[in-house]
Amino acid sequence: MRIDILTVLPGLLSGPFSESIVKRGIEKGLVEVHVHDLRNWSTNKHKKVDDAPFGTAAGMVLAMQPLHDAITSLQAERDYDEVIFLTPDGEQLKQGRVNQLSLSGNLLMICGHYKGIDQRLRDHVVTLEISIGDYVLSGGELAAAVLTDALVRLVPGVIGDETSALSDSFQDGLLAPPVYTRPAEYNGWRVPDVLLSGNHAAIDQWQEEQALARTRERRPDLLEGKDSEPGA
Ligand code: ADE
Repeated sequence: MRIDILTVLPGLLSGPFSESIVKRGIEKGLVEVHVHDLRNWSTNKHKKVDDAPFGTAAGMVLAMQPLHDAITSLQAERDYDEVIFLTPDGEQLKQGRVNQLSLSGNLLMICGHYKGIDQRLRDHVVTLEISIGDYVLSGGELAAAVLTDALVRLVPGVIGDETSALSDSFQDGLLAPPVYTRPAEYNGWRVPDVLLSGNHAAIDQWQEEQALARTRERRPDLLEGKDSEPGA
């Protein structure tokens, strides 16, 4: 998988991609992440990348020319499965969409800034608009980092234990069950006996029940339309 990201603040993305899972995916040669500074495409002598909006709206908009030129030049080099604009008014990101996007070969992400991007680019060039939640960030960079991280961990081979990404919260429509580690008793707090029993069937059943109980308590919306019996 290859991900290209267009931004006016490339420095915001260097940290998230040089640590942990994304770093590992890149080092293993399983993913490529290319962060591009939009200023490189500006034909303005001051490398300006913003412009005033038509009408009476306050604030600035990302300038049309550098953004359109950047997208066009990247598209001339390869086909993108999606051109994604990160924006608070986009489709709210869910695991199902991440799973689907993780099968892509090439993705192009556009990080908005100021008051966003020209609507004509959204109408004619962008193919998918994604929000990471109902709150407004200062720009799309952190959202692009979130989406990239969620995607990269699903690329086969990036996470050592292939099954661990599948046991994440949301992968089966439920939150993950609680986890415990050694020692079995710490500070007077005991690990549930069943986890120490060595009975794998009982442990599996307990984990399923815990996942369901946690989901019912914290995210009952995830259970709507689902049979509430574990394993059903
Ligand atoms: N840009 C600003 N806020 C955002 C959000 N919540 N999701 C995606 N992109 C954004």
